[in-house]
Amino acid sequence: MIKKQTTIPSILGKKNSGKKIAALTAYDFCFAKILEETDVDIILVGDSLGMVTLGYESTLPVTMDEMIHHIRAVKRGVHHPLVVGDMPFMSYQVSNESAVQNAGRIIQEGGAGAVKLEGAGPMAERLQAVAQAGISVIGHLGLTPQSIHQFGGYKVQGKNYLDARQIKKDALDLQKAGAFALVLEAIPQELAREITGELQIPTIGIGAGPHCDGQILVLNDMLGLNRDFTPKFVKRFVELGELTKSAVNQYVQEVREGSFPDQDHSYDMPRQPLRSAGNEKPGA
Ligand code: KIV
Repeated sequence: MIKKQTTIPSILGKKNSGKKIAALTAYDFCFAKILEETDVDIILVGDSLGMVTLGYESTLPVTMDEMIHHIRAVKRGVHHPLVVGDMPFMSYQVSNESAVQNAGRIIQEGGAGAVKLEGAGPMAERLQAVAQAGISVIGHLGLTPQSIHQFGGYKVQGKNYLDARQIKKDALDLQKAGAFALVLEAIPQELAREITGELQIPTIGIGAGPHCDGQILVLNDMLGLNRDFTPKFVKRFVELGELTKSAVNQYVQEVREGSFPDQDHSYDMPRQPLRSAGNEKPGA
């Protein structure tokens, strides 16, 4: 059965109906096709791809070309979830013009239905420029990984009163600037609840507790594929890393002992052509 496509109005509608938004990241065609067969609403091709699939130490080195390469791959695998493309570091910070141009590339070249960018203050102006160009945009507040050096590490944000007040003000500013949803990352659940209650647009939490309008996780984290470091907010729904390792070890063992490939995984050839192969008369 063909599933109904997730649209921006349907995402906005979930806020009013109280039905939670389920979002995940994905970075390639293979996983995108699997997610297509689920009920996930949004697939974010996050700049986390830099750390998850490209092996960078942070998200900062990710380029526009890398983002577009992966967004296109994901887009080829899905029909019904809304594909959101992340705007990488320095693709929108410099000016409103570059923000609109790069957001446009994510939509036109990548095929995404919306973009996401991090931060507030001057970034609210960038978000507004993108939204006013007719591109649907999600804001991102709290622990914004592109600001990792300012934060001094991957630390929970908004834990004291002043910081919490600032994040709440930023959330209202981004809504005013035209964001259609907000990602809230690594903030106290009480703050996320208050922001969610104040906003008309949906909040999508990651490490922001259960009171947001939706949740997002990095796919590789929740599948147990990223075993270097697991933040408190990540639940591993399966240990795919362990399962992969034991499957590969079994393969290696069977190859070495000669039990794979067996007859079930080998092709047969009719006897006649094999016996006569090479004996054909020229021109016969
Ligand atoms: O890049 C990313 O994957 C993200 C999510 C963690 C929200 O921004």
